[in-house]
Amino acid sequence: MAVERTLVIIKPDAVKKNAVGDIIRIFQENDLKLLAIKMVHLTKEQAKKFYIVHKDRPFYDELTDFMSSGPCVPMVLEGENAIARVREIIGATDPAKAAEGTIRKKYGTDVGRNAVHASDSPESAAYEIPFFFNQLEIHEQ
Ligand code: PPS
Repeated sequence: MAVERTLVIIKPDAVKKNAVGDIIRIFQENDLKLLAIKMVHLTKEQAKKFYIVHKDRPFYDELTDFMSSGPCVPMVLEGENAIARVREIIGATDPAKAAEGTIRKKYGTDVGRNAVHASDSPESAAYEIPFFFNQLEIHEQ
């Protein structure tokens, strides 16, 4: 199985809930290495650029309003099959449908305020990682 890198964002709702430490710990307990991390407050324009793939979806404005409403914590995680594994660990987009034990089940509120984002494919990881981090900010381990 391939070693992959994925971009995770702890969203503003989970930052407000003081859940940052807990969420990082869950990933690390699942053998995912933390290669990069920061706290940023996105502007509306930056949020729109990050979520450009959803520009025609009805929730685009609501999603980008929310993502620019407060600080969030993007990070790069690395591990075997990391992209799919992280999506499993975070659970379904809608916290009400997320499996027991997943991060969104524990910390999510609704389909918008769902605690975390994670890249859904190698292509999205390739767009999302350099959106937040340059080479000097990503630490090989
Ligand atoms: S997924 O996981 O990409 O298949 O999920 P999808 O349903 O396509 O949703 C993509 C992202 O949009 C957010 N979302 C919403 N935000 C606000 N309001 C509504 N109604 C809404 N529906 C979906 C959802 O949280 C996903 O965010 P990310 O950050 O990609 O997980």
